[in-house]
Amino acid sequence: MSAHLTRNLGYQRDYKLWAVGGGKGGVGKSLVTANLSICLALMGHKVVTIDLDLGGANLHTCLGIPVPEKTLSDYFSKKVHSIKELLTPTPIENLSIISGAQDNIGIANLKSIQKAKILSKLGELDADYVLLDLGAGTTFNTLDFFISADQGILVTLPEPTAIENTYRFIKSVFHRKLQKVEELLEVGPAINQIMNAKISQNSRPADLLEKVAASNPELRHKLEHEINKFVPNLIINQARTQTDIDIGHSMKIICKKYFGINIGYAGHIEYDASVWQSVKKRKPLLMEFPHSHLINNFDKVVHTLLDLD
Ligand SMILES: Nc1ncnc2c1ncn2[C@@H]1O[C@H](COP(=O)(O)OP(=O)(O)O)[C@@H](O)[C@H]1O
Ligand SMILES: [Mg+2]
Repeated sequence: MSAHLTRNLGYQRDYKLWAVGGGKGGVGKSLVTANLSICLALMGHKVVTIDLDLGGANLHTCLGIPVPEKTLSDYFSKKVHSIKELLTPTPIENLSIISGAQDNIGIANLKSIQKAKILSKLGELDADYVLLDLGAGTTFNTLDFFISADQGILVTLPEPTAIENTYRFIKSVFHRKLQKVEELLEVGPAINQIMNAKISQNSRPADLLEKVAASNPELRHKLEHEINKFVPNLIINQARTQTDIDIGHSMKIICKKYFGINIGYAGHIEYDASVWQSVKKRKPLLMEFPHSHLINNFDKVVHTLLDLD
């Protein structure tokens, strides 16, 4: 891990960083990022939303604007010198977007130093909230942005493939987080063994604490502290029934039992045809359909997340 990133993981911010990730493409991460950003902006907060889905940037579409002229590629290639020059206004007051790369710089290929640079420059943006749309996958860069955030938000669908992917994402991010805790390096091999094991009853990550405790109570304390600090928040998108909504509660219980970690259930967003209508029209959902019941869904989710901040 680079020294830059180590420092960045612990620095004080005068804004809140929310990262939206999760296993799979197409589950609604961009839609959720865009509309959470709109909610915060409508509440009067200054918001910058950043498209870090560097391979498939489309956050701008969810906000009703064309591809921003300047993107993170221009910053990395030094065509622009300040991250502030990348800010593109949106039709929503208080809300600007920074677009991801339009060429094929995948987030996977972002160098450690570039990742650290983005994180360290966010403070220059004059924002109360910075939201990151991370895109799909579990590359180290995606996991690192997720871990660096004040709130890690997981979007999933109430269907088995998406749920499996979400567990895989949680497992990867949890593993990455433990690897970053340098004091735990001594027990690194034991952690890797447990986290790399196939999912089975015999090797639950939740047992990790107990194994470590047996050899070193002081480390157990640190490990417990780190695990307790790690509370990603789940959103079930495209819920159609109460059973779909309840999946969030079950996932919370399973994460505690299997991984030994707490996840929060930030709430659900209903399935609604106005979503694709707004996407098709390239208009921001909450602005185009102000009477959609999704407004209530987003309102609840955003308040739940704000209460945690
Ligand atoms: N709550 C919803 N109701 C109906 N359709 C939705 C909903 N959420 C997402 N969609 C559809 O799924 C598509 C993919 O969403 P998107 O936010 O681009 O996913 P991701 O960023 O995770 O790849 C959207 O274009 C939209 O048509
Ligand atoms: Mg997306």
